[in-house]
Amino acid sequence: MTSITKDVVVIGAGAAGLTAAHELRRQGLSVAVLEARDRVGGRLWTDTVDGAVLEIGGQWVSPDQTALLETLDELGLETYPRYREGDSLYRGRDGELRRFTGELFPVSEETAAAMTALIARLDALTAEIDPDAPWAHPDAVALDTISFEAWLRAQSSDAEAVDNIALYVAAAMLTKPAHAFSALQALLMAASAGSFSHLVDADYILDRRVIGGLQQVPLLLAERLGADVHLGAPVHRLAWSDGGVVASAPDLEVHARFAVLALAPTLFERIGFEPPLPRLQQQLHQHLSMGFVIKVHAVYDRPFWREAGLSGTAFSPYELVHEAYDNTTHGESRGTLVGFVSDQRADDVFTLDADERRTRILDALARYYGDEARHPVVYFESDWGSEEWTRGAYAASFDLGGLHRYGPHLRAPIGPVHLACSDMAGAGYQHVDGAIRMGRAAAADILTAARRAAAD
Ligand code: FDA
Repeated sequence: MTSITKDVVVIGAGAAGLTAAHELRRQGLSVAVLEARDRVGGRLWTDTVDGAVLEIGGQWVSPDQTALLETLDELGLETYPRYREGDSLYRGRDGELRRFTGELFPVSEETAAAMTALIARLDALTAEIDPDAPWAHPDAVALDTISFEAWLRAQSSDAEAVDNIALYVAAAMLTKPAHAFSALQALLMAASAGSFSHLVDADYILDRRVIGGLQQVPLLLAERLGADVHLGAPVHRLAWSDGGVVASAPDLEVHARFAVLALAPTLFERIGFEPPLPRLQQQLHQHLSMGFVIKVHAVYDRPFWREAGLSGTAFSPYELVHEAYDNTTHGESRGTLVGFVSDQRADDVFTLDADERRTRILDALARYYGDEARHPVVYFESDWGSEEWTRGAYAASFDLGGLHRYGPHLRAPIGPVHLACSDMAGAGYQHVDGAIRMGRAAAADILTAARRAAAD
């Protein structure tokens, strides 16, 4: 067992933890980052699968994500736009596949009017929500004790409009069924992205990708931190007191004045805290749970859908793959489609064997793009649900009523233990932008506390 002493121990080498460590070291504090996996990046992971470079986790960058954009700039990373020329596809409640351009799905006039009214109502409510404190909204309790689905149904009797608006937050963002989270949680998702209209606009929310992959962010930060990043070091015990912390991994023990817990709060229960965390936090963390989505990559010898004037963008709340996009990697002549299978549908296909699941998912893509979609040269499913150190995707959210009940305490430091994770962010919630914001905030809080202690 190696024992080292640092000013700060950071647990988790995702975007949040590495941002915090980098900021702290820049300000003159010594750090050790302990990472359970044998790689950095957490939910950011670029890998080569059967010769194809795939972004297995997070990848898109949108204009509101200013903290991430600043980091990309600082690290000298360049972005490229998602391919979006041509028509998008939508399959409605009647089962018919329709082509469209713009944001609004090609639905009947009545459904279009109902969707427009719902979006306007949600935009107005979102404008009243502070993403860093959604519980402060005057109607927070009422909005947090009704499911998003029930709230939508109370606003509109148009089933297709409700299904579509639910899709933007449920299948596409929180990756939970719309009956499983509150209207307030949905408004937080929208407020964290600037407006509900931003969630509706794929060209905004899925705007650009990073050349070389978004995992470059944690990789380059880790490179700067060098030997201060320890891989294969899962922390299983954290002793804490006003005097400092001791973080224990199987072969390494770090004594420090402060700790940053930079992992999904759903994984805190894997760490033995001594003494146990306060009652409130022990309760709070149990009211958060991970969503679940399969990100499916299908690589073809060429982007054949473009020949038919299709952008590759497809949506349907009634399809196994509820959304899909052209995900062709920068500089590649081969074409890639990425599709998403969310929540209960993901559970269902995981009851099938791998071949049957692949067939079912490719059939769903073929129903959008034609028979050629059944024959990719590379096929890969990102399955974060089976990843020991993540256990779901994209991120964690509160159960019904949890956000207003526990939200005000979500990010509060616990003695010398500070928290940083995208799943606990306000602005940038559930995104790399939020992870970076949380990493910066934890570092700033620790610096303030360290300076205060030095002045005493
Ligand atoms: P993250 O989970 O990345 O890092 C935590 C780290 O802690 C991990 O490395 C983990 O191994 C480690 N750890 C856990 N327990 C530990 C222990 N006991 N000891 C030591 N280490 C431990 N975002 C976005 O902006 N654009 C996008 O397009 C997408 N798309 C997307 C797709 C998919 C499939 C996923 C899974 C996620 C996204 N996201 C996304 C979300 C985005 O990837 C995510 O919000 C951030 O990467 C989370 O960064 P954090 O550092 O907060 O946590």
